[in-house]
Amino acid sequence: MCGIVGYIGPRNAQDVLLSGLAKLEYRGYDSAGIAIYDHGEVKLAKTVGRLAALEAKLNGATISGNLGIGHTRWATHGKPSDENAHPHAGCASDFAVVHNGIIENYLALKEKLLASGHHFASETDTEIIAHLLEELWTGDLFSTVLKVLEEIRGAYALAIMTKNDPGKLVAVRKHSPLVIGLGDGENFCASDIPAILEYTRDVLIMEEGEIALITESSVECFDLKGNSIEKKVFQVTWDPVAAEKGGYDHYMLKEIHEQPRAVRDTMSGRLSDDGRKVMLPELKWPEGYAQAVDRIHIVAAGTSYHAGLVGKTVIESLTRIPVDVEIASEYRYRDPIVTDHTLMVVISQSGETADTLAALRNSKERGIRVLAITNVVGSSVAREANDVIVTWAGPEISVASTKAYTTQLIALYLLALYLGQERGKLDDVFVNGFLKDMKELPDKLDEILESSPWIEQTAKDFAVWDDAFFLGRGIDYAVALEGALKYKEISYIHAEAYPAGELKHGTLALIVEGVPVIALVTEDSLYEKSVSNIKEVKARGAHVLAIAWAGDEEIGKSVDRVLYIPRTRTALAPVLMVAPLQLLAYYASVARGNDVDKPRNLAKSVTVE
Ligand code: M6R
Repeated sequence: MCGIVGYIGPRNAQDVLLSGLAKLEYRGYDSAGIAIYDHGEVKLAKTVGRLAALEAKLNGATISGNLGIGHTRWATHGKPSDENAHPHAGCASDFAVVHNGIIENYLALKEKLLASGHHFASETDTEIIAHLLEELWTGDLFSTVLKVLEEIRGAYALAIMTKNDPGKLVAVRKHSPLVIGLGDGENFCASDIPAILEYTRDVLIMEEGEIALITESSVECFDLKGNSIEKKVFQVTWDPVAAEKGGYDHYMLKEIHEQPRAVRDTMSGRLSDDGRKVMLPELKWPEGYAQAVDRIHIVAAGTSYHAGLVGKTVIESLTRIPVDVEIASEYRYRDPIVTDHTLMVVISQSGETADTLAALRNSKERGIRVLAITNVVGSSVAREANDVIVTWAGPEISVASTKAYTTQLIALYLLALYLGQERGKLDDVFVNGFLKDMKELPDKLDEILESSPWIEQTAKDFAVWDDAFFLGRGIDYAVALEGALKYKEISYIHAEAYPAGELKHGTLALIVEGVPVIALVTEDSLYEKSVSNIKEVKARGAHVLAIAWAGDEEIGKSVDRVLYIPRTRTALAPVLMVAPLQLLAYYASVARGNDVDKPRNLAKSVTVE
């Protein structure tokens, strides 16, 4: 996730770009840059570091010009560095491109471009666009961009300019957000409304596969074939603070709603074109390593630990490699039994959690190979692990982790499939079916998020209680743990998760008339047993909300409320099931009047022991 901004009009472009980027830093902040059309040249200023570093580099100087684009980066392809910072120019620096997203086929395109004599200055996927613009130049920016779009695959929001056709800015949206701001004799584009709110409240919200041709006096919109389209002007009425949260009341709610995009991005570029193989080129494992691994230790904290529990179930079932999942603050002080071929997988959204980092360091000292799953490219965990799978959730601001969890699950599914296929345990047909189901998850998540009003009402009803119980069996239990953590973390209501079959060994004593019980019922092989456990709590007066598969009419007979989620295979159910649990926690917290994004006593990144 990165932030892009563009401007054309009478103002000094540099000022507009820098103020816009300041509002987009929440989308990424490992490097920043601008390109401005200045006296017949495209001039670039860019640097690793936050926007403040770019301002320091400019040192009060102004690149004067009235057309420009800017970028604040959250590294995906290529480390944070001056070279990898956007904007990117081609060989002759005639063009400038900023990009938010991932170009999936960039390696194949890069090889072709190298073969035809192009020189690359960065490791990014984005730079190929600047070279393609040079290669396919028609004499007109808009028609050249259309030709470039025919070549690239993936997710992108782009802003593009050139000195060869000045007075124009082209902006494109496919799977990454983009808005166009309409001014009086000036126009803007940006990843998000706050970047331009200082200048205009009239915006066009770009939809999938739409392109805008922007001059200072006009904005025309087209589809990817170049057919003109009409768009409605949206009047922004939010105040600037609400606008930074995309119109949502809290970052947590915004981040919950970002999950379909985050899940899609984390899969992007990691599936073969025919959808039959998982590709993880970021794993620099020695020849034969995948086959030799005989044990996996997953180590993490909090929500990341809960993702690891789902990972265990899936990795064991797809590869038959034994997996232990451990809490980092325990593992770091243990003397774990490891073999020469134990793989350690650390999971950390921030990549800075002190216990997780310490566990990683201990393992490396023991000679264990460490793979990190993290959301922050330049984090300590990412730098110190042998291999890294980055979850492309984008910056997570709310203390309560949401989109990081779902993308960690995606990374673990990909790892399980990769190990399974490399070890000859899974055939193409199985992998193809699994990946097909994974690709449907974003749309299914969108469907679930539409149930928000129903969940809000349920949360209000439950929030009057000082306890809540989350039940599940098998993989449902792993998700129940995450549901309970989310609930207690932000609503401050006592919440416990139990394996449903364990209730009668003590916890059943806590069930009283009316107490909310949230029962997760997607583990098909244990369905009847789960229903029996639900009956046990119902018989003691609990008020049961079941989260079950769409079409499961039976469950309605045993519970008080049901939330149905679209069917997928059981292994993938956690991605879908967690969304209503996040919303339940969110609305319970709102109902109690809590500070949702900054719950008491907690910090986003726990860098102390
Ligand atoms: O950054 P990490 O994933 O290492 O953080 C681990 C936990 O501190 C974190 O998941 C915490 O449990 C969340 N705030 C829960 O929502």
